[in-house]
Amino acid sequence: MENLISLVNKIQRACTALGDHGDTSALPTLWDSLPAIAVVGGQSSGKSSVLESVVGKDFLPRGSGIVTRRPLVLQLHKIEEGSREYAEFLHLPRKRFTDFAAVRKEIADETDRETGRTKQISSIPIHLSIYSPNVVNLTLIDLPGLTKVAVEGQPDSVVQEIENMVRSYIEKPNCLILAISPANQDLATSDAIKISRDVDPTGERTFGVLTKIDLMDKGTDAVDILEGKAYRLKFPWIGVVNRSQADINKNVDMIAARRREREYFSGTPEYKHLAHRMGSEHLAKMLSKQLENVIKAKIPGIQSLINKTVLELETELNRLGKPIAADAGGKLYSIMEICRLFDQIYKEHLDGVRSGGDKI
Ligand code: GDP
Ligand code: NA
Ligand code: MG
Repeated sequence: MENLISLVNKIQRACTALGDHGDTSALPTLWDSLPAIAVVGGQSSGKSSVLESVVGKDFLPRGSGIVTRRPLVLQLHKIEEGSREYAEFLHLPRKRFTDFAAVRKEIADETDRETGRTKQISSIPIHLSIYSPNVVNLTLIDLPGLTKVAVEGQPDSVVQEIENMVRSYIEKPNCLILAISPANQDLATSDAIKISRDVDPTGERTFGVLTKIDLMDKGTDAVDILEGKAYRLKFPWIGVVNRSQADINKNVDMIAARRREREYFSGTPEYKHLAHRMGSEHLAKMLSKQLENVIKAKIPGIQSLINKTVLELETELNRLGKPIAADAGGKLYSIMEICRLFDQIYKEHLDGVRSGGDKI
């Protein structure tokens, strides 16, 4: 039985491959309705670090200033134990990356291709899939960091543009928000909390992640925040300790970093009682579970949209005429096939529920 998250991933990729082709108005709606997790926070709050530790790999461009200038839709696919991990970009369909330094370079190059090497931002996403035995099935969207001032070479309008872009993702009701706040700054000034409170005032789909706990002033701790007393969300707050800049410079690997993170929480008296629900590994598992829950809850809505999409696509295909030689026809056809597959799996899921089994 195919995993629900990976099926939604397929539909997402098919919608994107299709781009804004044709008059099929149902496609953008379908894409918008697919559940995903968006990562938001201020610049240097630790967004890239959190993503990398969830994946367990180094692959994101780093540096000062606005490094992430296009949304990165990151789909994680769990593959068989012992298989070699690799990455693929949607814009380079036939190329398998096994060197993650090359992945990092391609993200930077592809960003520049769209923004023309200026420091402009673009809302056109880059799609990256990572296949690994060490990940959980998950779709994460990395977004440019919120900022209060434009940096050198950028127009002042960039501040508002970034905020609008972030908002356009997280205001969708099916979007889970991974709100990153650094523990060494006052939570009241957190960009992540400010913007997520706007779109999700009751905190139902916001996951609070507290980074840089190791960098707090001596004599202070994050217990109130982590216990949900400082700012209440439906889901418990998760604290993480990512690699410091010095660790990155020294090439401390992710596996060692995860181990150190575990030791940090279990070995610090203040956090010992919370250690079982802290850290990047726990975060990854919890997110995967919640994403699957959201997908299950939204299946009826997604399915009726899919049926509508299939109908519209059939009309579109007929309009184009058969046989369809054009690329667009082929792509329309493949998304229709995926939609049909979704439909079929959904029905099998219902059968499973009726017979008391949990097939998904
Ligand atoms: P982004 O701009 O939000 O993507 O932030 P980055 O992930 O690039 O992190 C910014 C800087 O903070 C980097 O130098 C990281 O090494 C450092 N950093 C991030 N999280 C932590 C943490 O939990 N502890 C420590 N000590 N440093 C961190
Ligand atoms: Na940064
Ligand atoms: Mg970053």
